[in-house]
Amino acid sequence: MSELLEKARSYEKAAIHKVSEHVRPVFHFSNPVGWMNDPNGFSEYKGEHHLFFQYYPYATRWDSMHWGHAKSGDFITWEYLPAALAPDQEYDNFGVFSGSAIEDGDKQVLIYTGVAEKALENGEKKITQDQCIATGDGIDFEKCTTNPVITSDLLPEGSSSEDFRDPKLWKEDGRYYVVVGSRSQDGSGQIALFYSDDLKSWKLGNILDQSENKLGKMWECPDFFALGDKRVLVISPQEMEAEGLEFHNGNNAVFLLGDYEKEKMQFTREKVQSADYGLDFYAPQTMLTEDGRRVMIAWMQSWDNAMYPADQPWSGMMTIPRELSVQNGRVYQLPVRELENYRKNVVTYSDVCIESETVLQGIEGRTIDLELKLKGTEYGKCRIKLASGEKHYSEIIYDRKDGILTFDRTYSGFRRDTISTRSMLVRSCRDVLKLRILVDRYSVEIFVNDGEQAMTSLIYTPQSAVGITFSSNGKVYMDAVKYDIEAES
Ligand code: FRU
Repeated sequence: MSELLEKARSYEKAAIHKVSEHVRPVFHFSNPVGWMNDPNGFSEYKGEHHLFFQYYPYATRWDSMHWGHAKSGDFITWEYLPAALAPDQEYDNFGVFSGSAIEDGDKQVLIYTGVAEKALENGEKKITQDQCIATGDGIDFEKCTTNPVITSDLLPEGSSSEDFRDPKLWKEDGRYYVVVGSRSQDGSGQIALFYSDDLKSWKLGNILDQSENKLGKMWECPDFFALGDKRVLVISPQEMEAEGLEFHNGNNAVFLLGDYEKEKMQFTREKVQSADYGLDFYAPQTMLTEDGRRVMIAWMQSWDNAMYPADQPWSGMMTIPRELSVQNGRVYQLPVRELENYRKNVVTYSDVCIESETVLQGIEGRTIDLELKLKGTEYGKCRIKLASGEKHYSEIIYDRKDGILTFDRTYSGFRRDTISTRSMLVRSCRDVLKLRILVDRYSVEIFVNDGEQAMTSLIYTPQSAVGITFSSNGKVYMDAVKYDIEAES
């Protein structure tokens, strides 16, 4: 093992004991210590779910990237494993960037972007990004001696060698395939598909899709899979311009839906769909479970608006893993069904008429799974205040007439000027709005109309703010089912 990896492992081992479980989210994955961004290597290995992540153990800021590692039997409680990769080779001396993993026979195969910083003769520094392989046994990994295995000179002419990253690997009919993000001659994103029979020697199959400067600049963190009768290409574009209520996070996550001709390795895009409408959702990655579910997890934070208390020894959280499906030509997402095993203390209300500010006994808490149905046509706006205390609250506002759902965390306890609201057009505006709201200690995830849309945001509100209130400017008839979520890692 390299000195750098050994150092990371012994550092995190000592540091992790200093973080009390009471300050961590209850049912969302958080990093042991230091900094975390993208999920990596989200995959099955020997019957367990593995999650790796972009990781800098030594401080709660982005720096020289390592891969952290954890595993779970059910996506809800996780066991930390020792850091998996460190930037310890010449070809990855600037960082082991994002990538993916598969189970291949009895081996776990990782593919990642090795970022190298080289000093040029004129004294300037040059960054290159290439794809590298490491294989292991679920704990320890050995980097391939022929790394890097996919270099940017395999890309079409004019493509960037500095922005070429985030390989997502799968194996199909005995052949390995990988999609990688990069920038084409026009400076904007493209997704390249490569294939190999032995993981070592790779060929470019095709360019699956391109931004042409319409959907942001660099396309990061691609994923590519069949879902129902569609093929989905997931991208995380940088520097995307907002359009109406869409694409407001600068760095966005987008589903491209279409068809795929496997023989020609050709993807035809039919639809562009926002993956999430909240303030904190980026770089999603999916895996296929042994029982055939396509499950997605994402970094629950934003690059431009990353806010977490300065005294917190860990910086990041992942979303709840979400089961994906295609319905009516769109991707739907709902929390993994395993979460239901952690539901306790059910409280149910039916047809409660809400008008003035109302508290429903038993409907409160900071680690809850709350299902609401808002019914009727006699109201304009309905407001739900969550994580509410003397001074604090975060609000969900449904404007029924305009069909707009807003999340507002202005009073969640910020001490800095930061972006606090997002709105989205509810696609299926019926007389009943269905919301499933997951509140954990520091986050609110809203699933609208059975997962047709989702909205994910962080709140660092003091934990004493547990109240929930409902109000409306007309009569809303509401059904509510609330569960506490109790989990221990
Ligand atoms: C996305 C990203 C990836 C890169 C990684 C570096 O958030 O920028 O493209 O591999 O983070 O940490």
